[in-house]
Amino acid sequence: MKYASPRGTRDILPEESALWQQIEKTCQQVFALYNYREIRTPLFESTELFSRSIGKTTDIVSKEMYTFTDRGDRSLTLRPEETAPVVRAALENNLIQRDQLLKLYYIGPMFRYERPQAGRYRQFYQAGVEAFGSADPTLDAEIVIMAWQIFEKLGLLDLEVDINSVGDEKCRPQYVEKLKAYFKDQEKALCEDCRVRLQVNPLRILDCKEAGCQKVIDKAPASADNLCPECKEHFEKVVGWLGKSGIKYKINHRLVRGLDYYTRTTFEVVSKQLGAQNAVCGGGRYDTLVEELGGKPTPAAGFAIGMDRLVEVLKSTGHLPAGRHGRTQSTEIGIYIATLGEEARKKGFEILNDLRQLGISADMDYIGKSLKSQLKAADQEKARFTLILGEEEIKSGLAKLKNMQTTKQEEVPCDARIIAAKLQLPK
Ligand code: HAM
Repeated sequence: MKYASPRGTRDILPEESALWQQIEKTCQQVFALYNYREIRTPLFESTELFSRSIGKTTDIVSKEMYTFTDRGDRSLTLRPEETAPVVRAALENNLIQRDQLLKLYYIGPMFRYERPQAGRYRQFYQAGVEAFGSADPTLDAEIVIMAWQIFEKLGLLDLEVDINSVGDEKCRPQYVEKLKAYFKDQEKALCEDCRVRLQVNPLRILDCKEAGCQKVIDKAPASADNLCPECKEHFEKVVGWLGKSGIKYKINHRLVRGLDYYTRTTFEVVSKQLGAQNAVCGGGRYDTLVEELGGKPTPAAGFAIGMDRLVEVLKSTGHLPAGRHGRTQSTEIGIYIATLGEEARKKGFEILNDLRQLGISADMDYIGKSLKSQLKAADQEKARFTLILGEEEIKSGLAKLKNMQTTKQEEVPCDARIIAAKLQLPK
């Protein structure tokens, strides 16, 4: 019987994982620059946490969740996103304190039962941030600038930020009514899903990708034109900061996003290099979610970068890290030990272990290759040095150390400390 990875999932092989490591490192560095600290939460949570926060009528909750009942009869769901779990964890562990900004980041897999296509998987990876405790527009600006800095650091330039404001609990209800009236007039032109959305959540229609609906959506009232004075001022300040920081942005009236918890700012970073799934990052403000999940009223904002899509853009633009076999240069091995005969092999294994204890990356053959094949393997592994040990070397106590770059060879005592010192000499 042959097994394949489940539909919508894939293996990230060593060849590609160097790129993933590079992205993770860049994200961690930039998150630290902005004073965000890491949080790790379980891969599954109670189903209720997601249905309450993301919204029952969203695509994610209504058709994309991996939900199961465990042996204790609890309904659990593999996390489709990380904002709700972070809020849950912050509340459970009392991390949210009055008059203090809490800044957290995460990197890890998420799960959505979506129709797989390029850039869309059922297990995908996000690197994201959530900040709690400030309603100030500078926080909204900070997170957009931070996402932009990550992309810039990775060498991505062909990007644009789409930004919008969906208002708050004061002005949104009137806007939704206005939308409802507008779409009601156009109901015949809407797809079947949107007709349902019209009844349950008209805002979701703005997110529809159907061509027929798009035409209607184009002329729909824009939320940014229907904001209360406070939300309007907030939005203008956010956009003002983006202008000052030189970020390429566009106000996109349709950007309501696929999750219901947003208030005021919503944004996406889109790449021109990607096809239909062109958002490499999405986020915004969610000032009511903490309270909805049982906490005190706490304004908050965050984003998540889609790492799978980032990898695709980096591959398509040729921004690949140096190194072979998925190794970055720093992990290419320092020394390969080639041996001939049983005694030499024993001695070689001892030296190998000692070198590793001394912090030198080293390897040798475990499958009984000839000396010639071992030397070939040293070459393939791109070892900086090869240590050659045969019967004669065991007798004399002196092994041959070959610098693979200069091809110069010298005799060295069979002592890991001396060999390690030689390896660290400048070439
Ligand atoms: P989201 O827009 O659902 O937002 O996801 C964020 C990013 O994750 C997307 O822009 C995309 O790059 C990536 N993504 C989403 N679904 C998939 C998929 N099936 N395959 C590959 N990549 C995918 C959220 O998840 C919010 N929690 C973001 C947030 C954080 N808002 C506030 N704080």
